[in-house]
Amino acid sequence: MPTDTTNEQKMTNEHRTKTDVALRAEELTLTYVTPRSTTYAVRGVSLQVGARDFAGIVGPSGSGKSSLLYLMSGLKTATSGAVYLRDFKYSHATPNEQLDFRRRHFGFVFQQPFLIPYLSVIENVLVPIERPGPNDMARGLELLDSLGIVDLAPKFPNECSGGERVRAAMARGLVHRPDYLFVDEPTASLDISTGTRVMEVLKTQTTHGTLLVITHDLEILDDADIVFRMRDGALVETFQGALARDQGPS
Ligand SMILES: Nc1ncnc2c1ncn2[C@@H]1O[C@H](COP(=O)(O)OP(=O)(O)O)[C@@H](O)[C@H]1O
Ligand SMILES: [Mg+2]
Repeated sequence: MPTDTTNEQKMTNEHRTKTDVALRAEELTLTYVTPRSTTYAVRGVSLQVGARDFAGIVGPSGSGKSSLLYLMSGLKTATSGAVYLRDFKYSHATPNEQLDFRRRHFGFVFQQPFLIPYLSVIENVLVPIERPGPNDMARGLELLDSLGIVDLAPKFPNECSGGERVRAAMARGLVHRPDYLFVDEPTASLDISTGTRVMEVLKTQTTHGTLLVITHDLEILDDADIVFRMRDGALVETFQGALARDQGPS
């Protein structure tokens, strides 16, 4: 069966329209209040990401990267501020509208892969697709192959290593070609060469949608279109295009 990887990879560089804003955060703030303290996990963050951008968020541990990702993807509700996905005021939609939007338009790759233990790897990969057909199966296997774990397709999560489970979760995040793919620390549990390989696969997301990657490893953001640097919950620097590559934060 012909596959579309080649076309996707070709299109990565040739047909990108970066001008339209696909995701916009406005003055996002998230506080965690406990009886003893109030933590400002995210403080007044505003940013914009283009429709086929590869965007990176860097910053030290505890700087609010994951919290910002949860706010932008609607998994946490902001204390104040708003998130727009194109013209849709996502942050202020009802929980059902958000759920529906997430199902149709989002892919996630969390630090913890959260695979379903009683489904095989390939069945886990196909979870985002309502009625998987032969094409979906072929795409799922092709993704597993490009991630170097196609042999694990019939196995179960408990038969896979941590790094293998993370890669299965990546295939699941990509399989339905979501408009937005949110990825938290993709290379944390991988060796350098596997990390480089999975980044190449994740970047195929930009043939059709937005890729947002959180990391403390600036190396993997080499080709990013835009990089946001966080410190203590605030957005302290933004690097764009070549700047993101040449003068990126360290
Ligand atoms: N559920 C929580 N309750 C209280 N504080 C939290 C919670 N989650 C995160 N924090 C705090 O919010 C800040 C930002 O955390 P996080 O977004 O996880 O940062 P990062 O992903 O950059 O490591 C940290 O100070 C962290 O301790
Ligand atoms: Mg984090």
